[in-house]
Amino acid sequence: STLAERLQTLPKVELHNHLEGGAMYPDLALRLAARNGITLPFHDAESAAAYYRFSSLDQFIDILRTTVATLNTAEDYADAVERQGIEARRQNIRYHELFVTYGLVSRRGVPWEAVVEGLIEGRRRNAERHGVDTAFIIDLDRTLPGDAALAHVELALAARERAGIVGLGLDCQEAGYPAGRLKHCFAAAAEAGLPLTAHAGEDGGAASIWDALDCGVARIDHGVQAVEDPSLLAVLAEREILLTVCPLSNVALQVFPSLADHTLPQLLAAGIPLCLNSDDPPMFDSDLLTECEAVEAQFGLGEALLVELLRNAVAHSFQPAPARTQLL
Ligand code: ADE
Ligand code: ZN
Repeated sequence: STLAERLQTLPKVELHNHLEGGAMYPDLALRLAARNGITLPFHDAESAAAYYRFSSLDQFIDILRTTVATLNTAEDYADAVERQGIEARRQNIRYHELFVTYGLVSRRGVPWEAVVEGLIEGRRRNAERHGVDTAFIIDLDRTLPGDAALAHVELALAARERAGIVGLGLDCQEAGYPAGRLKHCFAAAAEAGLPLTAHAGEDGGAASIWDALDCGVARIDHGVQAVEDPSLLAVLAEREILLTVCPLSNVALQVFPSLADHTLPQLLAAGIPLCLNSDDPPMFDSDLLTECEAVEAQFGLGEALLVELLRNAVAHSFQPAPARTQLL
């Protein structure tokens, strides 16, 4: 068998996928748009591919803020969750943690109850129809005012058990919005025992990662700019902070000019635990298997190391320890 076939067959876990970006498969996005009576800036797979071209993280988030107009009802959310369950099943991903950023739709008045109902229904469908275990991490939109962000944490905590919410995170525009602005939100979640992560060091540099660590995170999403600061690399390795790395996303958002410029080899050499992920697969024309194959073609890590990276996702999932050992 080929390496690609063996990676396909291996039961896997993915920790860094966004519900909203994952709702942007052109067929699904167009169906949701029609149902909600809105117009998207594309009309088929080809025009979507032309639209999904990005120059930076900030410009990508601006586009995402437009396209999430497709998400309004519990049914929209359930369909988006289920689509990621179907894509997971296809790749033999048995468990995944999906980021849900309520801040992307709360400004438009989408009720939290609709979101929660959709998450519950989508999760049920994934378990029953697709054999995929879905959990959610509520991400705070970094640009939210501090009081609104805290309200989102309280909503997440109240729905935690019934919606399968296993963590709190942070995403959207990074530059200009240090994690420390929302430190009180992380403190409230930690107080309630919710594990923490944050997108950091995607385009905000090493300082942004230090700032996230200061908020008490156990994982860092991306973190690829940690190489700027050797003392930060040492701390990440020493504390075994998992980086959920998304190589093709970084190239798509021009964080690196090409995959050859990606810092993954330096992060590995520093002894930091990391795993591979596909971030917003339809918008970056990716999925977990494609990430693995691209990394192998570029860096030749070898099968044993690739499998180790896939296993890191199991070991660092936000499931409680007893459940974590039974994910696969
Ligand atoms: N939301 C969706 N994808 C993201 C990314 N790569 N960085 C920050 N926020 C995001
Ligand atoms: Zn992300």
